[in-house]
Amino acid sequence: MKSNRMIIAVFSLMVIGSMLLAACGAAGSGKTKVGLSFSDFAVERWKNEEVLMRKLLEEKGYEVISQEANHDVKLQNDQIDNMVAQGVKGLIVIAEDGAAAATAVDKAAAAGVKVLAYDRLIKTKNIAAYLSFDNVEVGRQEALGVMTALGLPGSTTWTKDNPAKIFMSGGSPTDNNAVLVRQGQMEVIQPYIDEGVITIVADQWVPNWDEAEAQKIMENVLTAQQNKIDAVIASNDGTALGELEALGGQGLAGKVPISGQDATAASCNSIVKGEQTVTVYKDIRLLSPKAVEMMDTLLKGQTISGLQEYSLKVLTGEDLEGNIQALFLPVQQVTKDNVYELIVKSGFQPYEDVYRDIPEDQRPPKP
Ligand code: GAL
Repeated sequence: MKSNRMIIAVFSLMVIGSMLLAACGAAGSGKTKVGLSFSDFAVERWKNEEVLMRKLLEEKGYEVISQEANHDVKLQNDQIDNMVAQGVKGLIVIAEDGAAAATAVDKAAAAGVKVLAYDRLIKTKNIAAYLSFDNVEVGRQEALGVMTALGLPGSTTWTKDNPAKIFMSGGSPTDNNAVLVRQGQMEVIQPYIDEGVITIVADQWVPNWDEAEAQKIMENVLTAQQNKIDAVIASNDGTALGELEALGGQGLAGKVPISGQDATAASCNSIVKGEQTVTVYKDIRLLSPKAVEMMDTLLKGQTISGLQEYSLKVLTGEDLEGNIQALFLPVQQVTKDNVYELIVKSGFQPYEDVYRDIPEDQRPPKP
């Protein structure tokens, strides 16, 4: 009788214990696991963000699993499935392809995993939240920077009889940010198109935001247009630098205004050298901690405050069902005039990188 009770008591303890372990999500370390899924590490920013988010999550006591998909859409989905199988309770995903990633993310969400779409939208209502920068504003600032460099509005050079010839260089067609960025660019330039003072002579999107690909595209555009390009509205820094290579080959670097985004070290250096015209500063030192804070809130079963509801239709321009909760951080335009203040003094990029190859006597003081 007594031993029967003992057996029942021990058995109950074992059941409760295993339930507790399951609730913690990780039988091994006892820590809750969070997965990070990156599209690639070819783009400068992602590795930095991985390091930062891993550190912050670990400080909060999470175990971090991180995977990088090398631009491979199927691999990214397999990696997400795999992290779910390993028992992650939360996933922060930088999607290579916002539509394709939805397949793996839907499965993860169905398994109870909280998914945060980081920087790039994943096209499903099953994400817990979407955190990014104001991508439409990025596009506006890119186009504004280029228009200002062309002397618009109010130019006497660019008229109906002599419109400025613009090459529109979109980002990766599978990244919804590229679509939002284009929306902002068009908002700014449409009035000039309507007025007839600028004209789009070519429009192409760059797969994977790939620099070498962008260079090739620009070379072909220059050939087709017999070098008659007056400005390039490029969508990020990597593609802008590829395009500047092509422009440089024709003696046009520094003569043709060109935009970008991310305020990478290389592009800030190009800006101080007078080649790239404008970039857009998105402070990832704010984005990554915000993502970690949001994930922590979700995993504690609490509600994230300060989010706004958007329909997938509005965010994508596609016929998609459902709404999601999102937060967009502000962005700032960077040119030669404010790169020191915004990027160097704030410590976003190192002084030595931004002023690389600039003679000592032409550099501002070290901050
Ligand atoms: C976009 C992102 C940009 C840039 C780009 C790749 O999704 O918004 O900041 O990183 O990917 O260069």
